[in-house]
Amino acid sequence: MKRSKFLCLVLAALMLAAVLTACGGGAKENVLTVATNAEFPPFEYFEGEKIVGADIDMMEAIAEKMGVTLEITHIDFDAALTGAATGKYDIALSGITANDERRKNMAFTDDYYVASQAVIVMADGEYKTVESLAGKTISCQEGTTGEQYLLDNEYTVQSFKTGAEAISALTAGKVDAVVIDDAVAKALSAKQEGKTVVLDEPMTKENYAIATKLGNDELIAKINAALAEIKADGTLASIFTKYDLAFDAE
Ligand code: ARG
Repeated sequence: MKRSKFLCLVLAALMLAAVLTACGGGAKENVLTVATNAEFPPFEYFEGEKIVGADIDMMEAIAEKMGVTLEITHIDFDAALTGAATGKYDIALSGITANDERRKNMAFTDDYYVASQAVIVMADGEYKTVESLAGKTISCQEGTTGEQYLLDNEYTVQSFKTGAEAISALTAGKVDAVVIDDAVAKALSAKQEGKTVVLDEPMTKENYAIATKLGNDELIAKINAALAEIKADGTLASIFTKYDLAFDAE
């Protein structure tokens, strides 16, 4: 083979490689991979096969502004956090409380919702106040700030993969109460047809944000810009209203 012909072939191969990389890179740039734990109504839950909820609607609105599409994966809550921290997924979107402990391992966008931990008890039971539950056995969802709060405050803790299982433990008489995020407590308790009630005493104050890998500043800036837009133009408020959530992000 002549030297020039060989060079030509090499050049052609390089060009093909460049085109392929550009296509691959381009396709990936327009997809945002999202890890969520769809066991958390009304923020994310299954409706048949479909994952729906306030977080999902919010993220769809953000994605539209960013010109990307979402690829949503349902996994355990702790795995969603780890998945975002390691970069396995671009983001974790899961009613995630942004706190200092987590900021050591992952980065957060601006806040979008103010939540608190709430207590669910049996409607006909003996526990009517947070105080009466001191040292009692309380169930919660594994890996959550609710679990951490209970561990820090000397309760006997029973952790479950889902909030639904935590509430089943309560109705089965295995635990004295459930601790979970307030809006979710209301949603889960409402399904118990009057058997359970949510106490009117918030235990904590927490802010939800979207999690991503440390140093992912460009993505955070893009999400924050889109989030600011949907906060300002009323989109986020109407999404929250649709799911019966207060709009009190700021
Ligand atoms: N806000 C709590 C936390 O960050 C609970 C979140 C649980 N989310 C879920 N989709 N299961 O720990």
